[in-house]
Amino acid sequence: MQLWDDQASFENGTLPVFDFHELLQDDKVLYKWLVTLACETGIAKLENIPMERQQLSRLGDRAGYLLSTNYGICYDIKAYSQDVARDIGYTTTSLPLHSDYVFITSPPAIAMFHCLFQTKSKGGVNQWIDGFHAAHRLWEEDPESFDILTKTPIAYRNITRTEVGEFHNTSNHRLISLDAAGKLSQVGYSDEFRDRHMPLEPKNMKAFYKAYIRFTQLLLDNKSSFWYKMKNGDGICVNNHRVLHARNGYEDSTDNNRVFQLAYMDWDCVHSKIRILSEQQGIPSPV
Ligand SMILES: [Fe+2]
Repeated sequence: MQLWDDQASFENGTLPVFDFHELLQDDKVLYKWLVTLACETGIAKLENIPMERQQLSRLGDRAGYLLSTNYGICYDIKAYSQDVARDIGYTTTSLPLHSDYVFITSPPAIAMFHCLFQTKSKGGVNQWIDGFHAAHRLWEEDPESFDILTKTPIAYRNITRTEVGEFHNTSNHRLISLDAAGKLSQVGYSDEFRDRHMPLEPKNMKAFYKAYIRFTQLLLDNKSSFWYKMKNGDGICVNNHRVLHARNGYEDSTDNNRVFQLAYMDWDCVHSKIRILSEQQGIPSPV
C-alpha cells in the first residue's frame, strides 16, 4: 500500500500512467494495472484512449466484466439543462468531494473515468484525494475520533430517476472501515447523499460530529490530494473504497460540451483476474 499526498502527480512519476492499447494487448501490463489499483497507489492514469464511447467496456472485458448500476453500465456524465438534471453530477456546478455510490449496500470497488471531451472553459478540474492518507492523519492526530468513525454507521439515501429507471436506495456505512487485522480497508464519504436520519444515540452525537467535521477538514485541506484536469483521451481509474474525487465548476455550451464516460468493477472481478495472471506468471498473488 503506497499512501500519497499533495506532492503526487502523473507528471513527476509518483503516480502510475498506463497506455490504453498496451493494457488491452499485454497481460503483464494488465496485471500491473490491476495490482496498482488494488494494492498500491489505488489510482492510475490511462493515456491514448480512443475518443469514442464504450472504451471502458473493453477494459471490463479484459478484466472480466463491468458492474451494472442504476445509472447504467458504461454511461455518460455530462451537464443537462436544469429541468432534466438528475443530480449535481449532471450539472456544471462544482462537485464536492465524495466516493461514488455510497447510497447502495455495496459501493463499487473500482471507478473508471474516460474523458471524451474536456471543457475549453476554465474549471472542470478534478481533485483526487487519498482517503487512506487523510484517515492515517486523523489516527495520528486524534485516535479517539478515528475510533468513533470506524464504529458509527451513517445512513445514506438516494431517490432518483435515471435512464435505467426509478430508484430509491438506502445504505448504512462507516466512514472508515478496518479489516480483521485492524488495517484500513475502506473510506467512503458523500455528504450529498447523507440521510437526514442519523442512527445514533443523542448522547453520542457531539463526539461523532466532532470526528466527522475534523475528518472532513483533513480531506479538504489539500494535503492529501492533488488536482488534475483530464485531457481528451485520458482515463483515470481509482479504488473507490479509498480515493475520493471532486470537481470544480465549468462553463458549457453547444460546441463546448464536457463529456465523460464512467464504468465500475467489483473486487471479485479484479481479485480473480489478479490471481489468474499471478498463476500464469508463476508468482505469488498479492490478493
Ligand atoms: Fe463521482
